[in-house]
Amino acid sequence: MLPMIEVLRLGHRTKRDERVTTHVCLVARAFGAHKVLISSKGKDTRLEQGIASVNRRFGGDLVVETGVQWRPIMRAWKAADKGPIVHLTMYGLPLDEVMERLRKGGGKDTLIVVGSEKVPGEVYGLADLNVAVGNQPHSEVAALAVFLDRFFDGKAISRRMAGELEIVPMERGKKVVRR
Ligand SMILES: C[S@@+](CC[C@H](N)C(=O)[O-])C[C@H]1O[C@@H](n2cnc3c(N)ncnc32)[C@H](O)[C@@H]1O
Repeated sequence: MLPMIEVLRLGHRTKRDERVTTHVCLVARAFGAHKVLISSKGKDTRLEQGIASVNRRFGGDLVVETGVQWRPIMRAWKAADKGPIVHLTMYGLPLDEVMERLRKGGGKDTLIVVGSEKVPGEVYGLADLNVAVGNQPHSEVAALAVFLDRFFDGKAISRRMAGELEIVPMERGKKVVRR
């Protein structure tokens, strides 16, 4: 069985971060994660419903939970000994080196943490691995996509996802069949 991947997104400010957080969820879904936990002050039901609608139309069952607090989530994951906590940060260890270690560890369930604005120092300590997707600043969306693609050896993006609609790949134009 494939390991379960959960993504913890830090610091979602409902109005300001709406688009980027949505993209974190869309990438998580398309690249093989099972759940996204969004650390935010309140619930963002619009975001939760938006991803549920994508699941219904295009398949998949990504669960999105908003309004959680990152500290208890990270502590509970550690206490349950579920698998590694991987924090994606430009200050971390090179991705290739870490993938080798994760593979040797037997592909356990993994909690991937991504930030938005300044990430609290405590997160670096709670993470088992601080991992850089290159040591240059870019984006949590790009970092998550590259990490998941490597983690699943490029296979997750081409898995078949069954929904109301299915896209038929074409050289030109758009073909969508209703199922
Ligand atoms: C726009 S960056 C802001 C970083 C923030 N200034 C900090 O102190 O960490 C938002 C998030 O993108 C991710 N990120 C950006 N560049 C990265 C890189 N080179 N490797 C891994 N993750 C990266 C991290 O998760 C980071 O928290």
